[in-house]
Amino acid sequence: MKRIVLLGATRGMGRELGRQFAGEGAELFLLGRSLEELAKTATDFKERAGGDAKVGSAYCDLEDPASFAPALQAAQDGLGTIDAIIVTAGLFATQEKLEADLDLTQRLLTVNFALTVTFCEQARSLLLAQGGGALCVFSSVAGDRGRKPVVLYGASKAGLSAYLEGLDHKYRDQGLITLCVKPGFVRTGMTTGLKEPPFAGDPEAVAADVRRALEKKKAVVYAPGMWRWVMFIIRRLPRFVMRKVGF
Ligand SMILES: NC(=O)c1ccc[n+]([C@@H]2O[C@H](COP(=O)([O-])OP(=O)(O)OC[C@H]3O[C@@H](n4cnc5c(N)ncnc54)[C@H](OP(=O)(O)O)[C@@H]3O)[C@@H](O)[C@H]2O)c1
Repeated sequence: MKRIVLLGATRGMGRELGRQFAGEGAELFLLGRSLEELAKTATDFKERAGGDAKVGSAYCDLEDPASFAPALQAAQDGLGTIDAIIVTAGLFATQEKLEADLDLTQRLLTVNFALTVTFCEQARSLLLAQGGGALCVFSSVAGDRGRKPVVLYGASKAGLSAYLEGLDHKYRDQGLITLCVKPGFVRTGMTTGLKEPPFAGDPEAVAADVRRALEKKKAVVYAPGMWRWVMFIIRRLPRFVMRKVGF
């Protein structure tokens, strides 16, 4: 049986991943900043697992680094050996909003990069100490190339993607499988109200792609898969083109 820790399962892609794992009989431990939302999510997952599943939870706020160690300890106490720690929690704001609000910019850069990496460093130590496991973290296609609509959010995810690649290079042969998930545009609460680009996806398909990538011990997965080819082209466009276009 799989034993999985999820940070960010109360909404969006994390919620869907948790539902799918619950449906296949995994034992789950949920981390999040609202005990009320965690309790509701745990009830949802238990129902999907057929009622008698164990779903533990503990407080963990990405903006409160003091909460990281106790949360991971609670997860280990609850599950014993952990197969995977999955981080979907993150912040998004439009480029326009961020440019107009320096405090929000600092908060987003801190949460998406510095604090997520700080959490992952503790998750990495835990997994290596127990002999290995998977660390699966949601970055974004926005981190693959500097682009006008996501200058700041993209920079936070570029840093996160680089960190995850380094972890994969350094620790894979010690049993730590690092999976960097790069979603394209996915319909969740995070993207409500934004203009949909072509190839927008849904959390169900993304979660299935991520589960497959974990099974195959991949280092990177684009989801939906079409974004792999979209970004393949965008990464190769010359700068003079990127300055002219709006994406
Ligand atoms: N949706 C997209 O198109 C898209 C595209 C590329 C990358 N991504 C990335 O994919 C990940 C998941 O996105 P999503 O669309 O599923 O997001 P979402 O629906 O907004 O869900 C975000 C989750 O993160 C949690 N969270 C936020 N701040 C937190 C904090 N300080 N401490 C603990 N938990 C916190 C939320 O918990 P609460 O219930 O407490 O709010 C929620 O469970 C994010 O990292 C996002 O940047 C998304």
